[in-house]
Amino acid sequence: MVAADFAPTSVQAKSFLQTNVMRVSILGATGSVGTSALDLIGRAPANYSVEALTADANVALLARLAITHGAKLAAVATPDAYAALKAALSGTGIEAAAGPAGLELAAGRATDCTIASIVGVAGLQPALTAVALGKRLALANKECLVSAGHVFMRAVRTHGCELLTVDSEHSGVMQLIEARNRDQITKVTLTASGGPFRTWPPEAINAATVEQALKHPNWAMGRKITIDSATMMNKGLELIEAQHLFDLRPAQLDMIVHAQSIVHALVEYSDGSVLAQLAAPDMRLPIALALTWPDRRPTPVPKLDLTKTPALTFEPADDIRFPCVRLARAAMHQGGGAPAALNAANEVAVAAFLAKRCKFGHIASIVDRALQTLDNRGLLPEPAGVAEIMNLDAEARRVATEALGAIGDID
Ligand SMILES: NC(=O)c1ccc[n+]([C@@H]2O[C@H](COP(=O)([O-])OP(=O)(O)OC[C@H]3O[C@@H](n4cnc5c(N)ncnc54)[C@H](OP(=O)(O)O)[C@@H]3O)[C@@H](O)[C@H]2O)c1
Repeated sequence: MVAADFAPTSVQAKSFLQTNVMRVSILGATGSVGTSALDLIGRAPANYSVEALTADANVALLARLAITHGAKLAAVATPDAYAALKAALSGTGIEAAAGPAGLELAAGRATDCTIASIVGVAGLQPALTAVALGKRLALANKECLVSAGHVFMRAVRTHGCELLTVDSEHSGVMQLIEARNRDQITKVTLTASGGPFRTWPPEAINAATVEQALKHPNWAMGRKITIDSATMMNKGLELIEAQHLFDLRPAQLDMIVHAQSIVHALVEYSDGSVLAQLAAPDMRLPIALALTWPDRRPTPVPKLDLTKTPALTFEPADDIRFPCVRLARAAMHQGGGAPAALNAANEVAVAAFLAKRCKFGHIASIVDRALQTLDNRGLLPEPAGVAEIMNLDAEARRVATEALGAIGDID
């Protein structure tokens, strides 16, 4: 079952947790989403059996989490980190693995639910391996759907995978469209906090420092998604993610800036009714829901008291000060290989900004230039499979790196 056809099957579905211990693996266990998921699992250890945990290279944290939660397998993506992981797990009985094969071993381990929370397109192959298990996939890694939406959703259908979202806005949409006729949906709106530069003038935004961009007003997240939130590319990626998750047309998708991050999503129906999903901004809510769906269980997330929250405000997204909004929307409408190229060029540009190799304002320019170059060369038709997606991803990274090298020309 995919989120797109939630209603009939999921409402009748029986919560796994009522009767069984749920076997869970977390791909990207050491990150912001991964540790939040383990925080929840650690609060109800009798309900879960932790199978595999993975990281890129953060051996110390991975080993600690694996030991604390009694994981069967821990894997690092970086081959050189294997010896340190093996040493850290020595005498625990926890299997250690490394490199692409180690990640595959972890992703292919039998589970009832795998949480896919690696950052970037690096998480695509492991997520697809978990899809092939034909069980539940709780997907945080939005870059999977941005880069490989059609291919990914086809794999979900082929393997009978139950795809649930771990993105707060999409979790909001999932809850709002449950058991309702999707033909009657006219618009799905994702809210955006607007990031740290919501009220800044354009010159100040262009010159913003890494430290300023990493200070998100509402959410504590990993570095890449935090920069994506500051450019507002994150909301553009989420529109593309929602398109695939809920099988919507680009014209049905919109974003709105809501600085308080209390309302996460709005769904408008043909009669003019608009349903909204509200909750405190805490990722443990969508993670918990993806684990227990269709049930809801108490979570440590603070309850909302609307008499005490600040006034809720809404404003249009400004795609002049935040050109990544325009670029992402254009890629979504263009379709084909454009979203994959957008994602790859953005990963290059964000990494360069975090390494202080370009200015904040260059991120959009690099992505724009890379997309134009690839489009002019006729390289953006729909990729047929994962190999074509990864080839396009590599070419987009090469072109974006060239654009980064020519940053003087961009200025
Ligand atoms: N954070 C949020 O609140 C939030 C909300 C919605 C969606 N998401 C999405 O969830 C995903 C994870 O976000 P995050 O904020 O949790 O990121 P994060 O804190 O940076 O964590 C990323 C995780 O992926 C691992 N990783 C990084 N590069 C890797 C590679 N090349 N190969 C294998 N593993 C790799 C990291 O391992 P190391 O620790 O060893 O580097 C870490 O476990 C992103 O796609 C993001 O867009 C996040």
